[in-house]
Amino acid sequence: MKIRHNISLKKYNTFGIEALASHFVEITTIQNLKEVLQKEGYPKKIVLSGGSNMLIVNDLNALVMHINLKGITIFSEDDHHVILKVMAGENWHEFVIWTINHNFGGLENLSLIPGNVGTSPIQNIGAYGVELKDCFESCEAMDISTQQLVTFSRPDCRFGYRDSIFKNSGKGKYIITSVNFKLAKQPHKLNTSYGAIESQLKEKKIKTPTIKDVSDAVITIRQKKLPDPSKLGNSGSFFKNPVITKDEFNTFLNNNPEAPFYKISDSTYKIPAGWLIEKCGFKGKRFGDAGVHKNQALVLVNFGGASGMDLLKLAHKIQDAVLKRFGIEIKPEVNIIT
Ligand code: EPU
Repeated sequence: MKIRHNISLKKYNTFGIEALASHFVEITTIQNLKEVLQKEGYPKKIVLSGGSNMLIVNDLNALVMHINLKGITIFSEDDHHVILKVMAGENWHEFVIWTINHNFGGLENLSLIPGNVGTSPIQNIGAYGVELKDCFESCEAMDISTQQLVTFSRPDCRFGYRDSIFKNSGKGKYIITSVNFKLAKQPHKLNTSYGAIESQLKEKKIKTPTIKDVSDAVITIRQKKLPDPSKLGNSGSFFKNPVITKDEFNTFLNNNPEAPFYKISDSTYKIPAGWLIEKCGFKGKRFGDAGVHKNQALVLVNFGGASGMDLLKLAHKIQDAVLKRFGIEIKPEVNIIT
């Protein structure tokens, strides 16, 4: 285990932002992680995983710990289910493809999401009617203060929309080292009710889809709407879809009868932030090398030379415009690292 100095983080964050880490270490074993956490003398320590949900605003005077723990193993199985133990540093999409090749169902709607397995529970990643929590069994995390491994069950994680204990009371206290998933053997229960999946399967004339068909449909849909980070730097949805109260919603709908929305409960409604941002005129707009994606206004992009500060300024400009026009506050989904 070697601590290196002044390392460029450009290839470690999907925004492709150039920033230096004063100290950088690759973590390949649990023992490595324990030792690094016990080391003293660094201004701070920052966990870096797939780098797909972060905006690095400036150079980091910190020890950046790149979690590179690998391995997929069958933890247990019966006739109907399998429980897989997956180490935190496995790439999310490669893992999903592995499950499809082994005919284990449940994660197919979550194909092509950037990032690593270890960070997937933190924001309870979700797409096309499925969330991580639907297949989550448990995870193991290292308690930063004691360097002991702790197990979190699904209720322990307190999952919500792009939310979990790791963003709230557990924030900054744990490093997830592995995740256990409970996946289904055949017959699979598919979730194809999301409009875009239905029409994609119809277009391909698939009547009885397999998990591979659903995964392929999701990949096609995502490739149409969302930019590939290896070609155009981005962090997926930059903002969360705002949830508003019934009173706020009634006023909003009166003024904007054509707006899309989802009813969450009798008293709360979710409004797609992408629609709000598009209505404010930002879709496809470019400010220097920072911009808003042409096919999905929820995604901020780096055309090459944008700094973290350029993107943060653009995010603030968008938040201000949405607040001014709709009276709705939108909040970042990505972690802003300073
Ligand atoms: N919309 C617009 N303009 C836009 C974008 C969206 O009007 O530029 C409208 C669409 O027409 C649609 C509605 O907003 O009526 C919802 O759009 P979409 O189905 O594309 O989903 P989203 O709410 O924008 C969320 C997730 C995505 C996930 C998709 C599909 C969040 C913050 N984002 O986006 O997740 O892939 O649903 O399930 O919840 C991510 O988290 O990085 C991500 C990409």
